[in-house]
Amino acid sequence: MSETVYIEKLAYGGSGIGKLPGGKIVFVEGAYPGELIEVDVISEKKDFAIGTVKSFIERIPERRRPVCPYFRECGGCDFLDINYKKQLELKEEIVKDQLKRIAGISSEFLDKIQSSNLEYEYRLKMEFSFGFNGKTILGLKKKNSNKVVEVKKCHISPKQFDKVLNLVPEIVDLYKVPVYKKVKKGQRGILKHLVLRYSPTENSLMTIFITKTEKFEAAKNITNYLLKKIPYISSVVHVMNSSDKVILRGPYKILKGDGILTYDFDWEKFQVPPTAFFQNNYFVTGKMIEFLTKKLELKGNEKVLDLYSGLGTFSIRLAALVKHVTAVESSHVAVKAGRANANINNLRNIKFVESAVEEFLDYNEEKYDVVVLDPPRSGAGVEVVKKIIEIAPEKIGYISCNPSTLARDLSLFLQSGKYDIQIIRPFDMFPQTYHIETITILKKRG
Ligand SMILES: C[S@@+](CC[C@H](N)C(=O)[O-])C[C@H]1O[C@@H](n2cnc3c(N)ncnc32)[C@H](O)[C@@H]1O
Repeated sequence: MSETVYIEKLAYGGSGIGKLPGGKIVFVEGAYPGELIEVDVISEKKDFAIGTVKSFIERIPERRRPVCPYFRECGGCDFLDINYKKQLELKEEIVKDQLKRIAGISSEFLDKIQSSNLEYEYRLKMEFSFGFNGKTILGLKKKNSNKVVEVKKCHISPKQFDKVLNLVPEIVDLYKVPVYKKVKKGQRGILKHLVLRYSPTENSLMTIFITKTEKFEAAKNITNYLLKKIPYISSVVHVMNSSDKVILRGPYKILKGDGILTYDFDWEKFQVPPTAFFQNNYFVTGKMIEFLTKKLELKGNEKVLDLYSGLGTFSIRLAALVKHVTAVESSHVAVKAGRANANINNLRNIKFVESAVEEFLDYNEEKYDVVVLDPPRSGAGVEVVKKIIEIAPEKIGYISCNPSTLARDLSLFLQSGKYDIQIIRPFDMFPQTYHIETITILKKRG
């Protein structure tokens, strides 16, 4: 049975939210605030329901024809069917709503969202999956599913990726490399993912094959064939990853090139190895480094603690502006790259510590003037926030990729009575998707 629903707002995750006639909240993918739709309810829980669009009664004028034939199939994008201005507006609304609802934080602290200079072709890393349907295919996984949707062109990734995406399945079939698949009693095949990484500042492309097992006998032949057809590939890498949970992790072998991508920014440069995390949108990353370092109002004599530092994306610029930076990161590959990055930028005042943040804080007795943190999507959590408050820095810079865990953590800082929010700025690192980055600056009271 279908119901008429007015969509009131957007959930973090991209679904429209409205109310069923009885008042129960319903989440509807593909519907935007201000639209009136006929909804088919597909599942109902105690507190909410999930619906799909049966038909539109009224659409918002910002709708447009999506540029991509795989939209709502491949699970990569959420907002391709509305214009960019509207996307930015909705993202600001989502942050505002999460902060208010979860932490009671008023919108007076919210700064305007920083847009991306590129609406398309901005993604510096794409993780494609191999699949098999009589022949090898490459694509992206359908939302909440393991089904691989074949993709021949991805509009949010650099156009240099397209040729690789189209050629690799052919070569894989030519050399008869079996695609990995979980079966009833175990597994079959070896080839799992193709990760493509790009540096816009040196126009170089890294092609990474990820296999389940160490064995990849055709690696050399595939690499030679690929480079003959696409000479602009700068590195080819083989990553062995037995885990089915994380895509880009594990020991790797460089098959061609130096296995490093270099990114030049205004002031600093970064060398990024195949399996290390690096921010995905070059322009927005530069803006975030600028914003953070400017809003912390650094004087030059500060001791800074950078938690979840990765390979030093923020630590490097911070080190150039303060007395000393201690960067804490659990990934061995990122820490090694961080130390190399400090060297190539001629910085001697950064110490990279390879440790889980929780463990580091358990043993830490040092005081710091500024703490910067950039946790994964799950946020920092009660214990880490508590320990940061104990350090009592004058200022805190919190970089977040998830407004709901940000709101939860900010409410902990506020409840302590020791910190006030100065500003929260959203950044559109991922146009066409629901993802939102933010930087929050907190200042110690008094
Ligand atoms: C969102 S990334 C940010 C990295 C870096 N700040 C940047 O901008 O490139 C989060 C980083 O935290 C690291 N990480 C995740 N959990 C961690 C933990 N419990 N302790 C230390 N590092 C952790 C990851 O390896 C990753 O490099």
